[in-house]
Amino acid sequence: MTVIEYAPAPESRALVRLEASYGLFVGGEFVAASGPSFATINPATEEVLAQVSEASAAGVDAAVKAARTAYTRVWSKLSGTDRGKYLFRIARLLQERAREFAVLETLDNGKPITQSRDVDIPLAAAHFFYHAGWADKLAYAVPPGPGGSTPAPLGVVGGIIPWNFPLLMLAWKVAPALAAGNTIVLKPAETTPLTALLFAQVCQEAELPPGVVNIVTGAGATGAALVAHPGVDKIAFTGSTAVGKQIARALAGTRTSATLELGGKGANIVFDDAPLDEAIEGIVGGIFFNQGHVCCAGSRLLVQESIADEVERRLKRRLATLRVGDPLDKNTDVGAINSRTQLDTIAGLAHVGEAEGAHRWDTGCALPEQGFWFRPTVFTGVTQTHRIAQEEIFGPVLSVLTFRTPAEAVAKANNTPYGLAAGIWTEKGSRLLWLADQLKAGVVWGNTYNQFDPTSPFGGVKESGYGREGGRHGLAAYLQGEGH
Ligand code: NAI
Ligand code: MG
Repeated sequence: MTVIEYAPAPESRALVRLEASYGLFVGGEFVAASGPSFATINPATEEVLAQVSEASAAGVDAAVKAARTAYTRVWSKLSGTDRGKYLFRIARLLQERAREFAVLETLDNGKPITQSRDVDIPLAAAHFFYHAGWADKLAYAVPPGPGGSTPAPLGVVGGIIPWNFPLLMLAWKVAPALAAGNTIVLKPAETTPLTALLFAQVCQEAELPPGVVNIVTGAGATGAALVAHPGVDKIAFTGSTAVGKQIARALAGTRTSATLELGGKGANIVFDDAPLDEAIEGIVGGIFFNQGHVCCAGSRLLVQESIADEVERRLKRRLATLRVGDPLDKNTDVGAINSRTQLDTIAGLAHVGEAEGAHRWDTGCALPEQGFWFRPTVFTGVTQTHRIAQEEIFGPVLSVLTFRTPAEAVAKANNTPYGLAAGIWTEKGSRLLWLADQLKAGVVWGNTYNQFDPTSPFGGVKESGYGREGGRHGLAAYLQGEGH
């Protein structure tokens, strides 16, 4: 096969102006850091990008108090129309500064610039536009409150987000919280705090009333302090199942509500009548998009036995064309692994896959010397009891299993502790609908994968968590009413 050479097409990092260090964003101001700080790095080069404050329990307390004051004095008194104006303003500013946000996200996270440019940032803006539209129409979004009233907000929301889609996950929490009339304290992940801090500047530029959005940087201890704070009315968490369980335990018996969006082990199910060219693209996008750091990744390929060899052949041919390397290069398909810790986890589980007897294959492509990298990898001959068929790897590693009948596909697809997402590839509409009904997954895609839209609720069942984000279901979780 001819391998096409590409001339480098780097995006300019001059678009981004970084401070040497950042404080916390509390009450509309950056508060100079007094306590400890930590470095956030570019995982593609290991270069230190900036020093970021580690918020203590006192820092979290100040942020929650600022959010409470803003809620009581200003935000809860504004009309929905006025709240909507701020959200529209934020959405437009995100669009205007989209290139800057995309470069910063890629620098801090390691994801390819084409993905931050075409997926993360536009979707984040779309979430603000969508929720801006609901702010003055809440009475039509959810069932009415007592006496037919518009449902009331909850108060102060604590948002805790992961590192795989930093600005997008911020948008998933901040946009519905504000549209519903709440204020928020948001804790970004420790390896990717920079776009949240740039977002704080956008809040200032939008003249959002001080304290409506507060950003507290830090790691697990900062997140735990936010969860434990009695002044928080709702926790919105996205991250690992282990931490989700800790949060559920910490909140049990309190009046704080929670939505938990946790891990997954998505099945991408391919039948022998599937449109194979499209299915191959769907498999590749399903697991190698964002280096596989995707909670709904199609990390298990379930392929009908009669076409397994052909799918494997085509898949490997396609994977050989993936370009792994500099995330700022517009030719890059697969960027850097987000952290050394995550790289160790991925490498460790891949090792277990081999040790347990699955057959390991990777593209053999060259990798940069600096930074954290993992070649797109496929395991064939995987059985249901293998750890790589059960545990979330959260990296560019696909486990391939086979099935013979639709019933077997269902049984295998459902055989994990998780239930976040699944994909089905078949020409037969009736089979697709039957199967979608059988799968224990919050989201099921038909003849496509990884489609996202702010209007569409997203979330899991089983150990993938509870609650929905996006659409009217997601909005309802930020209002008083059923379930709160
Ligand atoms: P994590 O769950 O530890 O981190 C997610 C967020 O929770 C971060 O902001 C972190 O600082 C915060 N956090 C950590 N401990 C906390 C605590 N005790 N209380 C409150 N907040 C806390 O995820 P981590 O360690 O970065 O990744 C480990 C694994 O989790 C990954 O390999 C992957 O399998 C899974 N994961 C799933 C994600 C998803 O989107 N569902 C996102 C990130 C990780
Ligand atoms: Mg970083």
